[in-house]
Amino acid sequence: MAEVIVVRNQEEAGEIYGRAVADLIKAKPDAVLGLATGSSPLAAYQALAKIVKDESIDVSKVRGFALDEYIGLPLTHPQSYHATIHRTVVEPLGLNPANVHVPGDVLNGAPLEDGDKIKAAGPAYDAAIEAAGGIDVQILGIGTDGHVGFNEPGSSIASGTRIKTLVEQTRIDNARFFDNDINQVPTHCITQGIGTILKARHLVLLAFGEGKAEAIAETVEGGVSAFCPASALQLHPHATIIVDEAAASRLRHKDYYKYAYSHKPAWQGI
Ligand code: GLP
Repeated sequence: MAEVIVVRNQEEAGEIYGRAVADLIKAKPDAVLGLATGSSPLAAYQALAKIVKDESIDVSKVRGFALDEYIGLPLTHPQSYHATIHRTVVEPLGLNPANVHVPGDVLNGAPLEDGDKIKAAGPAYDAAIEAAGGIDVQILGIGTDGHVGFNEPGSSIASGTRIKTLVEQTRIDNARFFDNDINQVPTHCITQGIGTILKARHLVLLAFGEGKAEAIAETVEGGVSAFCPASALQLHPHATIIVDEAAASRLRHKDYYKYAYSHKPAWQGI
């Protein structure tokens, strides 16, 4: 079972992630971080950036691989995940931009019609992750429909990085980043597959707010099903799910998760 940690707010979740990743980088200066976009990880990146600064941690060798990218958006578009990862992670942490990769980088905004390029990009991305020695810790958000990365319901649990069609609800959810205009939200994306994500050595999923409660209940306490892609975390030997009270509100074993965490020996970490 994944470990479920119920926190007061995003800041507390961010500190737990920040501490774990800072300790990882101290022990392994060329650690490979799996990076996610969305609002959920923002406090975690800020917490990590603060620890890196306060403790003068050398991050010059840290490497990063983002989860996903829209198809057809120029890399310079402010809502491309390339731009978002650089704005929210690379710059605040002071990472070397050459060490951080986003699945759409090789596509460079190529249109949906460019089949040859798009078909090759997924396997090449998975190979690059493998060549880097695999991802040490992968941060994840979750969509209201249970997607992780952009693996929409129905995604194969064995999938590698590939093109996917976005569900309309995801485009509605993300329209807030595109002048509230769904027509500006791309219809397709390239995303690490569920199989890719499951290869990371540690998964940390963050979810906050009532809007995520149903997806979290399905993820943690539902059956493992491609219909709730995040439920694949149940198959992972080291998955940590950090939620606030609102996102935890539909968990039947919430009291047990709290009890287990408050009685956990400090040496176990997350
Ligand atoms: C997008 C991203 C996901 C992210 C999700 C939730 O769809 N592709 O990686 O987890 O949004 O975003 P938020 O954290 O803003 O709720």
